[in-house]
Amino acid sequence: MNELQEQMRQKLVALAPVASITNSIFRRICKSFGADYVVSELVSSEALTRESLRSFALARFTQAERPIAVQIFGGNPERMARAADLVNEMQPDAIDINVGCPARKVVRNAGGSDLLRDLPRLARVVRAVVERAAVPVSVKIRAGWDESSINAVEAARLVEAEGAQWITVHPRTRAQGFSGRARWEIIRDVKQAVSIPVVGNGDISQAHDALRMFAETQCDAVMIGRGSFGYPWIFAQTKALLAGRDPVIPTARERVDLALRNLSMELEECDAEPRFIIRRMRKHLAWYMTGLPGSKELRPEVFQAETYAQVERVLQKFLQLEEAAGSVAPSACEKREEDTSFASMSCDPASLEWASGGDGHAGT
Ligand SMILES: Cc1cc2nc3c(=O)[nH]c(=O)nc-3n(C[C@H](O)[C@H](O)[C@H](O)COP(=O)(O)O)c2cc1C
Repeated sequence: MNELQEQMRQKLVALAPVASITNSIFRRICKSFGADYVVSELVSSEALTRESLRSFALARFTQAERPIAVQIFGGNPERMARAADLVNEMQPDAIDINVGCPARKVVRNAGGSDLLRDLPRLARVVRAVVERAAVPVSVKIRAGWDESSINAVEAARLVEAEGAQWITVHPRTRAQGFSGRARWEIIRDVKQAVSIPVVGNGDISQAHDALRMFAETQCDAVMIGRGSFGYPWIFAQTKALLAGRDPVIPTARERVDLALRNLSMELEECDAEPRFIIRRMRKHLAWYMTGLPGSKELRPEVFQAETYAQVERVLQKFLQLEEAAGSVAPSACEKREEDTSFASMSCDPASLEWASGGDGHAGT
């Protein structure tokens, strides 16, 4: 048994891969708040093996992100094996195979969640990657293709037999996309069916949910996606609760400071023009402010900011409002009141079909 697989059994708290959101900068931020393990955004095996620079950029990570898995997708076993060769050179701690992406452009080429409709192909893909990978291979699956074909347990047994070292289960069907409820009982069923570690994922919107997932499913580790957007404190809070400590609630000042730090990191590290970076970052900035007094009212202003100075000015208003409101901290980690409904945290579903063309990347 390898070291990372062993760690997976220690109630590890992981950051989920989320295309176009959990980039290297956000992963580093989450690590600094206690995330134990992170996964890159999905990278197309087709694009990687065609030497797409964008794909290599997506797969790139820094030492601070370790342990990290680079996630690849595709339905062609030989291509996936060649992609594994290329990923080996980057020396990640694991290679994760995406078997959940619902985007049309991905499933059309037999990748992502389409593999759940063709288990023999899934077996060949996992076998091919395991044979070539220099590091442990893991697989991230959904519940099944649709309501009438829930097969997560069968798929999990199969990927275990093919040598995957752990499995992540996001228990929605491909047909559900990101709507409806993640059916945690499917995580429990998978956990009972396999002996490799099982990472539970889906609908952990606050730290208490993570504890509930551990208790209800007996999963070995949990993975958090949307619940971390603008709120990496969720990792520290989850770990505090797991250790029997009270979670610390960030102040408005801390949230504003982190939003600005995240934006500064983007401006320093990305090649694009600042105004494009700021436009791309507006949703993140709004997520950082979600639940603070004025978050709804000031949202349009956040979305109009074009420069760092303008962003700073809007965010300062949150501090003034917080002061005026008497700095009442939200109770426990009931983090972000009603305007943080999980739906509003989701990315635009349109992004799910985004950008698979050219470089072959797609949100999942
Ligand atoms: C916009 C978007 C992009 C995503 N990109 C990926 C991806 O690149 N790879 C992957 O395995 N899952 C991806 N996911 C799925 C998440 O990793 C996760 O399984 C899902 O959001 C459920 O977890 P959550 O409720 O904690 O967000 C994506 C989800 C969203 C909303």
